[in-house]
Amino acid sequence: MKKKLVSDVDLRDKRVLLRVDFNVPLSNGIVADDTRIRAALPTIDYLVNQEAALIIISHLGRPKGMVKPEFSLEPVVKHLSTLTDVPVKFVSSTVGDEAEAQVKALKKGEILVLENLRFDPREKQNDREFAAVMASYADVYVNDAFGVSHRAHASVAALPELMGEDAVAGFLLEKEINYASKVLDNPARPFTAILGGKKVSDKIKVIEALLDQVDNLVIGGGMANTFLKASGYQVGISFVEEDKLSLAAALMEKAQKKDVGLYLPVDVVTAKAFSENAEPHYYSIDAIPANEMILDIGPATCEYFATVLKGSKLVVWNGPMGVFEMKPFSDGTRTLAAYLSVCDADIVVGGGDSAAAVTQFGYAQEMSHISTGGGAFLELMEGKELPGLTVLADGVEK
Ligand code: 3PG
Repeated sequence: MKKKLVSDVDLRDKRVLLRVDFNVPLSNGIVADDTRIRAALPTIDYLVNQEAALIIISHLGRPKGMVKPEFSLEPVVKHLSTLTDVPVKFVSSTVGDEAEAQVKALKKGEILVLENLRFDPREKQNDREFAAVMASYADVYVNDAFGVSHRAHASVAALPELMGEDAVAGFLLEKEINYASKVLDNPARPFTAILGGKKVSDKIKVIEALLDQVDNLVIGGGMANTFLKASGYQVGISFVEEDKLSLAAALMEKAQKKDVGLYLPVDVVTAKAFSENAEPHYYSIDAIPANEMILDIGPATCEYFATVLKGSKLVVWNGPMGVFEMKPFSDGTRTLAAYLSVCDADIVVGGGDSAAAVTQFGYAQEMSHISTGGGAFLELMEGKELPGLTVLADGVEK
């Protein structure tokens, strides 16, 4: 996966098109979490210091190919302006006369952000003509948008293809690729994967792929319910994917055949209702009442999982252990994050909810790497090639 880097290119007097993933949560028109914006700053600062004329492109949300003001990148641009010394200009279109005029007028060392790529239906269609207009803006294309590199969209696939040898990786992409290779190629052992989240169905492929790689697989969160039921336990009114029970059984059998240690909860936190105000109850997994639902892993499970983590040299974590957004059911995820923060292993957290949880509980700094990609991270773990990565120019071995 060695790719040509932005630092391998002579940027003097060059116009650079930087694809970032500024798909960040907004609340009342203000950026609610700027992790993805900050993650792209090393590349942005580098390009500005190299005196490139910098044109930034991104998507935000899923506006379905229509101009929808609530998905405008304007608030993101305002936020970016507070993080860099250089004034950040914004144009409310991506292609067309106004965008082209502003791009032309851009001088070296300046930054211009174009409007949400997904306001144009051609972005998701991977349209070559749309990509060609953007290609005409710049001499060099830089992908620093790991979070969207699994999408074959115009700015991710067709555009770098048109740029050929001038399509390179930014520093965030480099970091994401490096950590992915730590996990996928020759991982340090013992290698433990922790998977959580609600559904087994979302992670079938990643579980299957990880069973070929890991020494231990720890399963928590809602998806553990399906495994517990498939193991013969009564799980009351818990969320269970009935149609995935035989698959869960088959995965457990595969783990056994491969000699992978598979760890399921031994106790749980339950409630009568899915509510922040519901009273939490603690049960061993063989004593779950028929009228209660599992909403978190219990304290004995946290200890049990910690013993697995203690001996590990590499840990990959994707998916929370319980409904961590609700205080009474957040202890499992919080305790796991706390264990990981003092663990003597490389800890790679795979985007989405687990990244949000680690940040919310204040352990982000202690993790070796928190991926900025949710879906992209899982696809990499599944062993898939990401269209946004394969298309970039190859790097030279140094
Ligand atoms: C993400 O948030 O996972 C990326 O920005 C991709 O967004 P998408 O799932 O809407 O393509």
